[in-house]
Amino acid sequence: MSQSPAEASPQQPATPATSKASASAPSASAPAASAAAPQSLAQRGNNRSRQPTNQAFRDFIGSGWGPRPAELPPRSEAADWAAARRAALGAQFPGERLVIPAGPLKVRNNDCDYRFRPHSAFSHLAGTGTDFEPDAVLVLEPLTPAGAPAPEGAPTHEGVLYFRPRASRTSQEFYANPRYGELWVGARPSIEEVEAVTGIRCAHIDSLGDALAKDAGADGVQLRVIAQADEAITALVDSTRQAAGLASGQAASEVDDRLLEAASELRLRKDEWEIAQMQAAVDATKAGFDDLIRSIPRAVGHWRGERVLEGAFAAIAREEGNGLGYDTIAAAGDHANTLHWINNDGAVRPGELVLVDAGVEIDSLYTADVTRTIPVDGVFTEPQRRVYQAVLDAADAAFARANEPGCRFKDVHSAAMEVIAARLEEWGLLPEGVTAADSLGPDGQYHRRWMVHGTSHHLGLDVHDCAQARREMSMDAVLEPGMVFTIEPGLYFRADDLLAPAELRGIGIRIEDDVVVRPDGSVERLTAGIPRTVEEVEAWVSGLIA
Ligand code: GLY
Ligand code: MN
Ligand code: MN
Repeated sequence: MSQSPAEASPQQPATPATSKASASAPSASAPAASAAAPQSLAQRGNNRSRQPTNQAFRDFIGSGWGPRPAELPPRSEAADWAAARRAALGAQFPGERLVIPAGPLKVRNNDCDYRFRPHSAFSHLAGTGTDFEPDAVLVLEPLTPAGAPAPEGAPTHEGVLYFRPRASRTSQEFYANPRYGELWVGARPSIEEVEAVTGIRCAHIDSLGDALAKDAGADGVQLRVIAQADEAITALVDSTRQAAGLASGQAASEVDDRLLEAASELRLRKDEWEIAQMQAAVDATKAGFDDLIRSIPRAVGHWRGERVLEGAFAAIAREEGNGLGYDTIAAAGDHANTLHWINNDGAVRPGELVLVDAGVEIDSLYTADVTRTIPVDGVFTEPQRRVYQAVLDAADAAFARANEPGCRFKDVHSAAMEVIAARLEEWGLLPEGVTAADSLGPDGQYHRRWMVHGTSHHLGLDVHDCAQARREMSMDAVLEPGMVFTIEPGLYFRADDLLAPAELRGIGIRIEDDVVVRPDGSVERLTAGIPRTVEEVEAWVSGLIA
């Protein structure tokens, strides 16, 4: 199939953007540059030693390897949950073929790729995690004719997972393909192995084109694709639609957007297995914060101490999980007032606070999103404590509101804002004659000068999960069991904020917890084990730094 990266041929090197194949270990006879015709820029990208190509070498490198595992791997814990998700998505589109790509590898430069991370819709619906699988495509194949409802209780679709299974050890791919060859990327799965793990019927990616085209047409099967996941697959779906006389390109964007929206909304309510993953992500994040605090003395002595903190968390993220759910904010002093401070190149000074916003993405690709604001010395100063307590009160009010029956998602934010506005009024920061109540009105909002971000977002496979959900399904929706979201109020007084009292300037505080709505409607903190009150945070720091 044309979407697969071209396999590099030593005679005809692939372009640098699609192959590392010529970066071989055994050096072969590189032709003398002077005698050759001028190289194209693409060819120069492969100016590295090449694999031998003679048959004797190929026979030799393809032989003498031990047997493959005799047993199939066990079914994954996620498999049945993912099957239920596929059924729920399919039921919204009976008779239609739904295409959910994992996405391709992304080139970092020349023949080096970024680490692979699949599109979240794919992971969610295939039930797969880390590393599975560049260029794979999940297709929900309709089991009923277009427009005809499925019989009561019968499935509307069958999932089919298309990917590139491992090649024979006697193939050139085995040793010469840096994206798929087992000598380059390690053991690769067979069709049968992936079927055993996922419980999904699998097929070779080369058969995808024909499978997409089968029965496509105005009186036949309509296709939808998660268009953002893989440009090449979107183009393939589009050309298939065009050939079948279906709307394609811009004319199909609404059709495709509806699929993305549905996949996003499907994640609004996490299942039991997902909630266990979220707790595991939070627990790994707690371990990351612990190590970050242990590294504070080294950070204080380092010219770029924020990087020391960032690195300590990152080490745990890789040891305990797949990595970071998003770039860590390690913001000391006034840097905390830059909301997306990810440069982390500042010093960490005694007497200051450090705002750390960090989350571990575990191997199932679920991430936590936690912020703690930590005194470098282990003790808050009086002004720091005053601001911290105001933010904590706002967080507690939001949490209490979330626990009230009928609470809508946006009400959580309103509860936090009521406290923030009240404190700013008490401190005399609102404009002359403006009360907290005035400020909370639509024509006021003065308090937002000191907290311009929102209080909550859904959390899951993406740090800002369910981002394509309709407003009525998200901000305006009543909280429902299975929802996982953040509560993260803050107050930010920049050093150059002339409207803030001098003693508060340079203080920026955010407290971010991850919460879940339980089956009985109660809201609980997944982050309950991470210290958050003034006293708890002080004890946390002093307990970890001798
Ligand atoms: N860490 C990103 C956020 O809190 O939304
Ligand atoms: Mn957040
Ligand atoms: Mn955050």
